[in-house]
Amino acid sequence: MKTTNEIIEVRKQVKAWRKEGLTVAFVPTMGNLHSGHISLITEALQHADRIVASIFVNPMQFGANEDIDSYPRTMQADQEKLAAAGTDLLFTPTSDIIYPKGTDKQSYIEVPNVSEGYCGESRPGHFRGVATVVCKLFNIVQPDVACFGLKDYQQVQVIQTMVEDLSMPIKIIPVATVREASGLALSSRNGYLTEEEKKIAPALSQNIHWLAEKIQHDTDFIGLAKQAASFIDNAGLKTDYIHICHAQTLQPASEDDTELVILAAAHCGKARLIDNLQVHLN
Ligand code: PAJ
Repeated sequence: MKTTNEIIEVRKQVKAWRKEGLTVAFVPTMGNLHSGHISLITEALQHADRIVASIFVNPMQFGANEDIDSYPRTMQADQEKLAAAGTDLLFTPTSDIIYPKGTDKQSYIEVPNVSEGYCGESRPGHFRGVATVVCKLFNIVQPDVACFGLKDYQQVQVIQTMVEDLSMPIKIIPVATVREASGLALSSRNGYLTEEEKKIAPALSQNIHWLAEKIQHDTDFIGLAKQAASFIDNAGLKTDYIHICHAQTLQPASEDDTELVILAAAHCGKARLIDNLQVHLN
């Protein structure tokens, strides 16, 4: 696996592959990789001849009071994992390479509707930062397909909408969430959890499952979501939100919707955990 922080090197390599008639898949990450990230590489291998990954802790998607400085950076171990998984090229730009003018003096991408609410409300500007950096990375790599984890369900909808709205010739492949045996979704932020917190953190996914079961027989979506929130709080977490939404538009679900998603976020000690579950109503 080749590693570079130069845009021109990425372009050169991808151009050479294209000349050979090879297709390219892209997996953007912020590093500190776990088996959730690696499952994206494994999936990407099913869709293209060559795999490009990136590691860039994107300042534009972090709020002023968020954890960008303490965000875990484990480049050596990440490189080994990506190489072992079959990555061909790793792009590791610095902030100066991606944002030579600084994050607040350049063009940005704003994806309406799906960016609003949920994590968009709790983290103002977050999805603008995500869409902008992913657009830039897409323009640098110019992949045929790109893989994104469903763990960040709203993020997948934001990227999918951006690609459709702006006619980007890239197929977005959503990849299932990888979980611990306890049900806890793998996340770089789980590293912030103490041993005690690790024991209560699975309450988030457990109560999402409880809610998914309840809405099969009861249409009081708001009342049931409130109940799930109080169960999550009683377990020792602090619910940020839990909502039952239309699976594509992410609008609050109505009684006759059948394809739904439960979106949830909760604080557990220093970590903010997010999770979700797609639900089909019969
Ligand atoms: P990051 O949090 O590093 O995640 C990179 C990719 O890995 C995302 O597509 C995310 O959904 C996926 N992922 C994380 N945990 C996962 C899990 N348990 N199972 C499956 N996939 C998982 O998401 C970002 O970085 C950034 O916002 C980024 C898209 C790179 C833009 O900066």
